Amino acid sequence: MIVCCFYYCIVVKFVFNNVGNFGPDWEPKDYELAKSISKYWTNFAKSGDPNGIDIVNWPRFTNGNKETQIFDSPIKTVNGIKKEKLVNHLLRDEIKGTFMMCFQEYMNRSGSVLVKTHQLSLDNAWINDMYATEYNPAHFHASKNSLVGLSSVLFMKTPDSYGEEITNHHEPANGHLEFIGGAQHSLSMSQIRLSPKVGDFFVFPYTLVHGVYPFYGTDQVRRTLSYNCDILPKVLVKEAK
Ligand SMILES: [Fe+2]
Repeated sequence: MIVCCFYYCIVVKFVFNNVGNFGPDWEPKDYELAKSISKYWTNFAKSGDPNGIDIVNWPRFTNGNKETQIFDSPIKTVNGIKKEKLVNHLLRDEIKGTFMMCFQEYMNRSGSVLVKTHQLSLDNAWINDMYATEYNPAHFHASKNSLVGLSSVLFMKTPDSYGEEITNHHEPANGHLEFIGGAQHSLSMSQIRLSPKVGDFFVFPYTLVHGVYPFYGTDQVRRTLSYNCDILPKVLVKEAK
């Protein structure tokens, strides 16, 4: 797999199919990979479509199809996370009440001025099933009613292992949940990477960017339950009634 942290511009050598001129100890699989990447690149330059003869098909990325090409040996096509199932209708009132209590507690502890002027309203709940090679790209939440709210994630199943870490053994990413803040000041925390256990539960604002890294080497599922909760102005809620 192409990893650009130890050797900048390494990607260029694959694009121009000239690995081996200098740099690390290249292996036969690197030459094969460079040949394929170079073909994708030139096909795209010629026709706007990277696909062609003797290379693995690279599907078009659309809202409906989030398949992604992994330039490894061999080249693989993997899915983005697709197995999201809405479960609002399956949750009992006691469970909804427990989530609401947690969201309310978050609001109370936040000390936000919104506590006085706004109120909470549960939105969608859904299950995410992830399997090996899948991932959940960095994203934030919103609902059809509000851009302001709280989201949550409850860990229901985790694989026994997330497989071999392929990027950085000192700070593993495989299967990890990562929250990404906006500030990169040396005195602030811009990223938090977690490997939660079954039963762990997180509440966070809609606007907090987060994602899940892919994992490998298992056929076990990583299952989470997410729940969104809008924070709506009390005035609007009254008018809607
Ligand atoms: Fe999310």
